[in-house]
Amino acid sequence: MSIKPLRKAVFPVAGLGTRFLPATKQMAKEMLPVVDKPLIQYAVEEARAAGIEQFCFVTGRGKTMLVDQFDVAYELEHVLRERNKTKELEMLHAQALPPGAIVSTRQQVPLGLGHAIWCARSFIGDEPFAILLPDDLMQCDVSCTKQLADAYYATGGNVVAVEEVPREIVNRYGVIAPGATTGNLVEIKGLVEKPKVEEAPSNITVIGRYVLMPEVIGHLSRMERGAGNEIQLTDSMAKLIGAQPFHGVLYEGRRFDCGDKIGYLEAQIAFALKRPEMADAVRGFLKTYT
Ligand code: UTP
Repeated sequence: MSIKPLRKAVFPVAGLGTRFLPATKQMAKEMLPVVDKPLIQYAVEEARAAGIEQFCFVTGRGKTMLVDQFDVAYELEHVLRERNKTKELEMLHAQALPPGAIVSTRQQVPLGLGHAIWCARSFIGDEPFAILLPDDLMQCDVSCTKQLADAYYATGGNVVAVEEVPREIVNRYGVIAPGATTGNLVEIKGLVEKPKVEEAPSNITVIGRYVLMPEVIGHLSRMERGAGNEIQLTDSMAKLIGAQPFHGVLYEGRRFDCGDKIGYLEAQIAFALKRPEMADAVRGFLKTYT
């Protein structure tokens, strides 16, 4: 059987972002900047680096700004041109997406991540698709989604990015029951969302990067509620195990949980330290706090 190319990515951005109130009262959490770039833009750039050509934002009320971020800003460009701000203009042009590459759909009520993905079912059709949760910000030499895409092409099935965490915090995540490991690929034999620490099948957890086969939509259509009474993506992914290949990729790089205040602050520092024009100044002021 030939493997279909991975061209599509879904960005679920309909959550309420309650942990960032009051910042997220009017503004989407995914517009929060790390240094000078919004979280959503890091995620879109990561997907592009993996060869993704079609982007679907699953938005909620007050999230139109996320789509506008990828539109042409005529007035701004006009002023930049008049002021000979060539560098800034080039930067804006480099981040523009081809016409028609972005679509958005609505999740009217945030019933859970699984439900958000189901809302993108027309976009997904019968193709494999990536999912990127923009609040998981990745710092990787090779785009994390590219690492998953490579694993998808190698295995022909579902792949999710995974990492090891201290056992006492596994109850915050989707956790895998691991099978055989080959290199950075771990066979997945089971998946459970937010298990009790003592019942977790391992300390290997799923992060916000996935490449899934379209058959997951059929399982999501049943609208079964899971942990936290939400329609969980993990529960429908678990139903694919056995029917299709399913692997975890122990990705190379670092993840920053920017849905959490401490993770977000750490990301600011880590990303600023990677910027040659800022690194020394940041190191300098950090010393004054120790
Ligand atoms: P979170 O669990 O971080 O929820 O969602 P949240 O609402 O964004 O933030 P808090 O916990 O209230 O602070 C993880 C991802 O799933 C999306 C979110 O937008 C985020 O990217 N999501 C979650 C949806 O799109 N719809 C949902 O119903 C739930």
